[in-house]
Amino acid sequence: MAQQDATALLDDDHNKVAGLFQQYKSAHDDNRRRLLAQQICQELTVHAQIEEEIFYPAFGRATGDQQLVEHSREEHQQARELIAQVENAPTDARLMLELEDSVLHHVNDEREKMFPQARKAQGMDLMRLAQQLQERKMELMAPHPA
Ligand SMILES: [Fe+2]
Ligand SMILES: [Fe+2]
Repeated sequence: MAQQDATALLDDDHNKVAGLFQQYKSAHDDNRRRLLAQQICQELTVHAQIEEEIFYPAFGRATGDQQLVEHSREEHQQARELIAQVENAPTDARLMLELEDSVLHHVNDEREKMFPQARKAQGMDLMRLAQQLQERKMELMAPHPA
C-alpha cells in the first residue's frame, strides 16, 4: 500500500475541504447546500481533532515550538465557533464564506510554517504519525455505536 507522510495526509484533508467549499459556492439549491455543509463540518471537526490529539503534541515535543501549537489551537477554536453557527444555518452562504476564510488562513499557516518545520524536525516519525492519524480518523468517521 502506498504510504504518505503525516503532512501529506493532513494536506489531503485540506484539499478535500477546499473542494467542498467550492462545491458549496456553486450549489444550486438548499438541499445540496445542507448536504455539503454537513460534510464540511464533519471533515473539519474530525481533522482538527486528530491534529490536536496526535499531530500537534508530536510537533510540540519534537520542535519545542509551543507557541505555534497554541496559535494553531486558537485558530481551531475560532473555526469550531463558526462550525457551530454553520450547523445551525447550513444554507447561509455568507456565514460559510466566513468559515472558508478562517479555514484557508489556518491551512496556509500549517502549510507554510508548521509542516516545513515538522519535515525538518529530528525525532518526528512522520510515517508512523500518518498511520496513527489515519486510524483515529477512521474511528471518528465511523457511525457511532448504538
Ligand atoms: Fe489545523
Ligand atoms: Fe490542518
